[in-house]
Amino acid sequence: MTQTPQETLANLLSEERTFPPSPEFSSSANVTETAYEEASADRLAFWDTQARRLDWTKDWDQVLDWSNPPFAKWFTGGELNVAVNCLDRHVEAGLGDRVAIHFEGEPGDSRAITYAEMLDEVKRAANALTDLGVEAGDRIVIYMPMIPEAAVAMLACARIGAPHSVVFGGFSVDALSSRIDDVGAKLIITADGGYRKGKASALKATVDEAADRCPAVEQVLVVRRTGQDIEWHERDLWWHEVVAKASNEHTARSFDAEHPLFVLYTSGTTGRPKGILHTTGGYLTQTSYTHQAVFDLKPETDVYWCTADIGWITGHSYIVYGPMANGATQVMYEGTPDTPHKGRLWELVQKYGVTILYTAPTAIRTFMKWGEDLPARYDLSSLRVLGSVGEPINPEAWMWYREHIGGDRCPVVDTWWQTETGAIMVSPLPGVTATKPGSAQRALPGITVDVVDDDAASVPNGGGGFLTIRDPWPSMLRTVWGDDERFLETYWSQYKGMYFAGDGAKRDDDGDIWLLGRVDDVMLVSGHNISTTEVESALVSHDTIAEAAVVGATDPLTGQGIVAFVILRGASESSPEHLAELRSHVAKTLGPIAKPRQVMVVSELPKTRSGKIMRRLLRDIAEDRKLGDVTTLQDSSVMVRIKEGLQSGSGD
Ligand code: PRX
Repeated sequence: MTQTPQETLANLLSEERTFPPSPEFSSSANVTETAYEEASADRLAFWDTQARRLDWTKDWDQVLDWSNPPFAKWFTGGELNVAVNCLDRHVEAGLGDRVAIHFEGEPGDSRAITYAEMLDEVKRAANALTDLGVEAGDRIVIYMPMIPEAAVAMLACARIGAPHSVVFGGFSVDALSSRIDDVGAKLIITADGGYRKGKASALKATVDEAADRCPAVEQVLVVRRTGQDIEWHERDLWWHEVVAKASNEHTARSFDAEHPLFVLYTSGTTGRPKGILHTTGGYLTQTSYTHQAVFDLKPETDVYWCTADIGWITGHSYIVYGPMANGATQVMYEGTPDTPHKGRLWELVQKYGVTILYTAPTAIRTFMKWGEDLPARYDLSSLRVLGSVGEPINPEAWMWYREHIGGDRCPVVDTWWQTETGAIMVSPLPGVTATKPGSAQRALPGITVDVVDDDAASVPNGGGGFLTIRDPWPSMLRTVWGDDERFLETYWSQYKGMYFAGDGAKRDDDGDIWLLGRVDDVMLVSGHNISTTEVESALVSHDTIAEAAVVGATDPLTGQGIVAFVILRGASESSPEHLAELRSHVAKTLGPIAKPRQVMVVSELPKTRSGKIMRRLLRDIAEDRKLGDVTTLQDSSVMVRIKEGLQSGSGD
């Protein structure tokens, strides 16, 4: 009997382990089971309640206007100011001396910035921008290292209603100038450079070239971070001069709930970037709610640390807007985790007594490769919640994170969401959910996700298909900047009345959701759909494998053949017997259909700047084609090194 794709996608990997929260954690958790009940009894009333976490200067008439789907309006008629919610109200409540940011520069310089100091700086920056002629609605591009001024710049823009578009500081002139152009910015905020891997790396030179290509750019505001030599143009202004001169008196005006807050270009592995538009009231409501619910934030005592870069949505929602709306104290680190040594992150957890850590699977797998003796050298006992985001987390990496970072006591929350969703959508709640290694599990209260088949029918437990979102949510993208057609086409055309996330997913026998990666990452082998994530997880569960990337390569016999690229743990060479064992290991774990045709040992994998594996390039190697475009690769020489060093064991 032939299986349907849904059946094969469904049940290759099974996971028996579960970890319920401790009674102590549950009894003091911010959110309990009743949140799900309240939200399902009346979803809009639930979001109405959550929006009251914020200070509004004018109440809304309607929680949701869905009269023109999929163009949603949340909290219509309501007015608020995002920066006031992130700063002024905490200072007014007497919390001005609370540390907002413990900044740690890569060279070891550090600064503690209180909420009162942040507010002072944001008011000055807001006045400075206004003095330079920036008005509500004008777009500003921010191209910065991970320094507090990046957050100040974003909040200053928000304060005066000028939507920002942050471009990741590692992007090239091409990427930067096309984004400046698309969003129509007339002012750029940047820095001379930032510290990365022990060096002052330049940013200003890239902005110079990009601004030369974009005639609309009138001014460039430059923060001095490294003091390195830079070229100076007529349009350039020093941040420290302009901002210091400006007044620290600033009365913020309120903006409509649907006023644009920012445009962030997605960092997908293919296609022209899309400018994802987020607005004010709904976005801040959901980022604030999810930040306190998913991480169980206690702002009085917690020290929170999200290791993302401010150039990604995670940096927007869970460094700047969610945490600051909640009055959190957080760590911000400028550099890379291996500078000056591979224990840097754990050293900082110890130094600041970090209680909540939010990072990505790609980082966790790197730490695994470096070995557990590194974190073991530091006191990590302050930690109480661990989060993961950005891609599916393999059960082995999840377990390693729980054991070696979380001391077997911290709940691990695997949070699924996207630039487009603006905030976390699917995740365990640390005081409620019995967590399962590798599963994001359940939609948050107030969120309706589904796993559907090709015909948009909900799949039963044990089935696989595509992740969709059935009901509008407050922090949803409002459109693709300047391109409503593309918004409709990309997200709303696959299934009538549902948001198509582009991710494969399955529901296990308990109804928990497992993310299987982008739809393009599903292989078709002899008519069976097999997810690259599951084969990768099976490989990483072998104790000799640190990291794996799997692609489907064209195969005359089977349609696609599974080709795996693996990085060994603590060794660089393998043997034919070992490679054969790895192939059998996958066959044993997932079934013979998932046995890789070929396993190749490599020392590195090609990744995008945000850490996602570029399978397209690996597919080229697996099929021995000329290499595709590598301009978005973190390190384009990786491909050359991979090709030169390939050691391969192929199928029988
Ligand atoms: O494929 C999913 C994956 O990352 C995509 C969204 O990427 P981006 O817009 O860059 O945002 C990343 C930070 C939110 C999703 O479509 N993804 C993100 N989180 C997870 C995930 N895949 C599996 N599990 C996750 N927890």
